Amino acid sequence: MKLLYLILLIFISSAFFSCENNKGNTAKNIETTVKSLSGQEIYTKHCLACHQEKGEGVDGSFPSLKGKECSIAIILNGSKGLVMPSFKKELSDKEIAKLATYINKSFGNNYKEIKEEDVSKIRK
Ligand code: HEC
Repeated sequence: MKLLYLILLIFISSAFFSCENNKGNTAKNIETTVKSLSGQEIYTKHCLACHQEKGEGVDGSFPSLKGKECSIAIILNGSKGLVMPSFKKELSDKEIAKLATYINKSFGNNYKEIKEEDVSKIRK
């Protein structure tokens, strides 16, 4: 009878530990996904709602991002006049570099690649 309890105990504790391990892995997976978002994914997450999928914006409300070099300053600081939010806190210099490069190379744009240092210089 004692042996049966022992086996039961081992079974329950191993189930418990494997569950804990899974939790750890899921957290790790989420972390790596967040870290490696592409410029396009960052755009979809933070910018698409206003500037639209193809960067065309909304007439009279949200400017189009076509035909002009992406302003890093406005992404960092936002704009007080109209409601462009600031992304200083949400996005790192590296993320803004990827995002600005994506915009500079998309929607028919063909401007320069933005590097992390370019963003760091503008961030105060
Ligand atoms: C809540 C809506 C909203 C969101 C979200 C938003 N923007 Fe804007 N954006 C605006 C508005 C409004 C302006 C015009 C601001 C002004 O002219 O004062 C603007 C202006 C801009 C400009 C300058 C455009 C020009 O004419 O030179 C850029 C570049 C830009 N946004 C990029 C982004 C990026 C990149 C993101 C995502 C990180 C983003 N915006 C998210 C509303 C938004």
